[in-house]
Amino acid sequence: MNGLEVRGLSKRFGGLTVSEDIDFDLPPGARKALIGPNGAGKSTFANLVTGILRPSGGTIRFDGRDIGALNEAARVKLGIAKTFQITTLFPSLTVRDNLRMPVLERQGLGGRMLRRAQGDAAVEAEVQELLEQFELAPLAETPVADLAYGQQRLVELALTLALRPRVLILDEPAAGVPSSETHLITEAIDRLPADLAVLVIEHDMDLVFRVASSIVVLVAGHILTEGTPTEIAAHDQVRELYLGAGHG
Ligand SMILES: Nc1ncnc2c1ncn2[C@@H]1O[C@H](COP(=O)(O)OP(=O)(O)OP(=O)(O)O)[C@@H](O)[C@H]1O
Ligand SMILES: [Mg+2]
Repeated sequence: MNGLEVRGLSKRFGGLTVSEDIDFDLPPGARKALIGPNGAGKSTFANLVTGILRPSGGTIRFDGRDIGALNEAARVKLGIAKTFQITTLFPSLTVRDNLRMPVLERQGLGGRMLRRAQGDAAVEAEVQELLEQFELAPLAETPVADLAYGQQRLVELALTLALRPRVLILDEPAAGVPSSETHLITEAIDRLPADLAVLVIEHDMDLVFRVASSIVVLVAGHILTEGTPTEIAAHDQVRELYLGAGHG
């Protein structure tokens, strides 16, 4: 089983403790959400797990192996990925051309090889599969710049999936997406591979309650509680934090 196992994780920025003694498990196939007020330390936690930041203390294991000393690129190779930001997309290129890049990258054919590999049937088949998985096929030949914002975020998700991750961290996948388009994100998360471990960091409680089977609440750098959506919705302190959020 294994997957991601975090124990006693802490992070200080100077005198400011942003992560405090965090224990957290994300087994294969998990669908967890991490919620908490602004500044609670959610993105910091994601950055510690993906290797963007170094912890001040504690351990991070993946399938039993201590990955604390590995940099971000090495963790991506092991299968720990965070979504690309839209700024990673090439706006003037089509959805298909954008998706081809991470596929080539994963196969070690990036850069100079791009032109030659364009004719590679296996690469094209994989790109097509991604387009279909995310219902982007009708938009395949559209430049990313011409897509609705929610659709751009889907491309971003598809790009990350092209790396074939085993752990996927989504930091505010619905941020800035108009409410009329958030269903695109929710449905895309629903269609992710069943054995992929997913952690969604999100302020949109409708999305959280729809996709997560377990919710972790982070407050001021420490875990207040973890429970099922039903348990979290009934939790007094969480209700105080989210009073009026529609799930209290
Ligand atoms: N590089 C840094 N140097 C100093 N302080 C930082 C740094 N990065 C984050 N912080 C501080 O750490 C705290 C947690 O920030 P973080 O971005 O992890 O919160 P968050 O829970 O993701 O918030 P939000 O919901 O607004 O995204 C904040 O007080 C922030 O100002
Ligand atoms: Mg954040």
